[in-house]
Amino acid sequence: MKVVSAMAAVRHLLDTGTVRRGDTLLDSSSGIYAYALALACHRYGMRCHIVGSTTVDHTLRVQLAVLGAHLEQMGPSADLKLDQKRRVARIGEILAEHPEYHWMRQYHDDIHYLGYRAIAERVRTETGADRLTVVGGVGSGASTGALGRYLRERAADVELVGVQPFGSVTFGSEHVADPEIIIAGIGSSIPFANVSHSLYDTIHWLSFDAALAGSVDLLRRHAVFAGLSTGAAYLTARWEQAQRPGRTVVFVAADTGHRYADSVFARHRDALPVDGLAPRQVSALDELARPWSRMSWHRAPAPAAARAR
Ligand SMILES: Cc1ncc(COP(=O)(O)O)c(C=O)c1O
Repeated sequence: MKVVSAMAAVRHLLDTGTVRRGDTLLDSSSGIYAYALALACHRYGMRCHIVGSTTVDHTLRVQLAVLGAHLEQMGPSADLKLDQKRRVARIGEILAEHPEYHWMRQYHDDIHYLGYRAIAERVRTETGADRLTVVGGVGSGASTGALGRYLRERAADVELVGVQPFGSVTFGSEHVADPEIIIAGIGSSIPFANVSHSLYDTIHWLSFDAALAGSVDLLRRHAVFAGLSTGAAYLTARWEQAQRPGRTVVFVAADTGHRYADSVFARHRDALPVDGLAPRQVSALDELARPWSRMSWHRAPAPAAARAR
């Protein structure tokens, strides 16, 4: 998913003279942005320095090495919030040593929206964008935010549904602990400027178990091998579609299932049947509860703790 975003962002930086070929691009990533940035650097003759999450797996490490990207990986940690904080701190140290590096700021710089325009066009062509609902996990917020924004330019009734893990500050679930929260790439413990809260109509929060059930069902029923955030988006999309069958629901599948082979797919016999799952409808954030909650967001602004300065 992020290849389109990183390619367009790097192209934009070159076209505007912000960076030049041969410069070093730096960022932090849970995995798929690292790969996307390495590909963009490879294409445009740039150096790539990644501060990677503990979720970056062996296969990705090998690919990054062969592509010529430099990866610094955080040590093992079951706590992805701590992992994210450590990465942010490490970026600060690297920039202090190398002020000439360009920090991509995938979570804050809206040049990461640009590449999704072509995807929005494609969705529009294939669905007609009539009574369309877009569902996707919100990490940086660029993919769902861009699709919502670009699709609404010509079809104002496009609905946007964001998917979050519990414990994320982005849409105010930081008070709901989820010991198993390992949905790589979505949610955050710090505010992100690329999340445009006022684009979202509805938010769903899912626990690891619910996302696992979605990922396994997506493979079993539809033969699509995708990651955990996709499983969460699929479960959400299915439910939204069942409530309003007249709408076309498109969901974003951010990554493939490979890195979840052991942590998710090997546990397929334990997966909860998706037909037995439904979100708890809440009207205020203090009612949120695991394993799955849904709230109308009504295109409201960011909660106080999620406001990026
Ligand atoms: C696996 C996965 N799913 C979903 C997302 C969320 O995408 P976005 O950052 O565009 O909100 C990411 C972002 O890194 C991701 O890695």
